[in-house]
Amino acid sequence: MSPEVKPDFLISTEGLRFDGRRPDELRPIEFKVGVLQQADGSAYIKQGKTFIMAAVYGPRELHPRHLTLNDRAFLRVVYRMATFSVPDRKRPAPSRREREISMVIANALKPVLFLEDYPKAVVDVFIQVIQADGGTRCAAINAASLALADAGVPMRSLVPSVAVGKADGTLVVDLGDEEDKYGQGDVPMAIIPTTDEVTLLQQDGSFTREELVEAMQMGVQACKYIHELQKEALRRAYASRAPAEEEDDDYEDDLETDLGEADLVGEDE
Ligand code: CDP
Repeated sequence: MSPEVKPDFLISTEGLRFDGRRPDELRPIEFKVGVLQQADGSAYIKQGKTFIMAAVYGPRELHPRHLTLNDRAFLRVVYRMATFSVPDRKRPAPSRREREISMVIANALKPVLFLEDYPKAVVDVFIQVIQADGGTRCAAINAASLALADAGVPMRSLVPSVAVGKADGTLVVDLGDEEDKYGQGDVPMAIIPTTDEVTLLQQDGSFTREELVEAMQMGVQACKYIHELQKEALRRAYASRAPAEEEDDDYEDDLETDLGEADLVGEDE
C-alpha cells in the first residue's frame, strides 16, 4: 500500500529508486490478451502494482444516434477507476480527471485506426482500473491497443505508452505512485513504434529543454520494449487458440488423401 507520508528519498545515494529500480528500468509488465469472453476483444496489463482491464466492442451500431459521425466511426473510450482501486475510496461518479484521461487515450489511439472505413459506427473501448499505482493512462493505452487488436479492429500498429518523470533531479522511466506524487514532473507519452510518431505527449512539472529531449528519448526506447511485450502477448493468445487450426490442417490433409485416393480409383476405372 502507498505510504501516507512523503518518502525520505526518491533516489538513493547508490542512484537507485524508491522501489530499488535503476532510473531507466521499467516495472515488471504482464500482458494477457482475450481475457473476457463476451467482449469482441480484451486484454489486461499488470505493470508493477497497477492493474487494468480493457474491453472492446465493435465496430457496431452507435447509440445514442445523435453522436453518429457520417464520415467515420466514433471511437468511444471510457476510462474509469474502480472505487477500490486506490487506498482512499474513489468516488464512483465519473470525475473530470477520468473524462479527460478518456479523451487523451482516444486521441492516442485514433491515429492507428481506420475509423473512416466504418462511417456511422462506434468502436467502444472500456477501460477499468482495478488497482492504481501510478501511470494508469499509459498502462491503459498499452492494454487498450491490445484489446483493439484482439477484437480484429484494423490497425496500423499497436500503441505502446510510458511515462518518464523526474525524481530528486534524476530522469526516471515508468513512474510508480510515490514518484508520481512526490517527484518534480511527469511526461506521459505514446508512440507508433513503426514510424516513431508521437500520439500522446503531456507534461506535468518543469523540465529544461535538454531534460525534455532526454526524457522523450528514454520514453521512446521504453515504448519500443513495451511494444515487443505487446507483440509477444498477441502471439501467445493466437498460439493458445491454434489447436483448432491444427485440427483444421489435419482435416485438410485427410481430405487431400481422400481426394487422392478417389482420383486413383477414378484412374483405375
Ligand atoms: O495514473 P496516471 O499517472 O496516468 O494519472 P495521474 O492523474 O497522474 O495519477 C497518478 C496516480 O495517482 C494514479 O495512478 C493513482 O495511483 C493515484 N490516484 C489516486 O490515488 N486517487 C485518485 N483519485 C486518482 C489518482
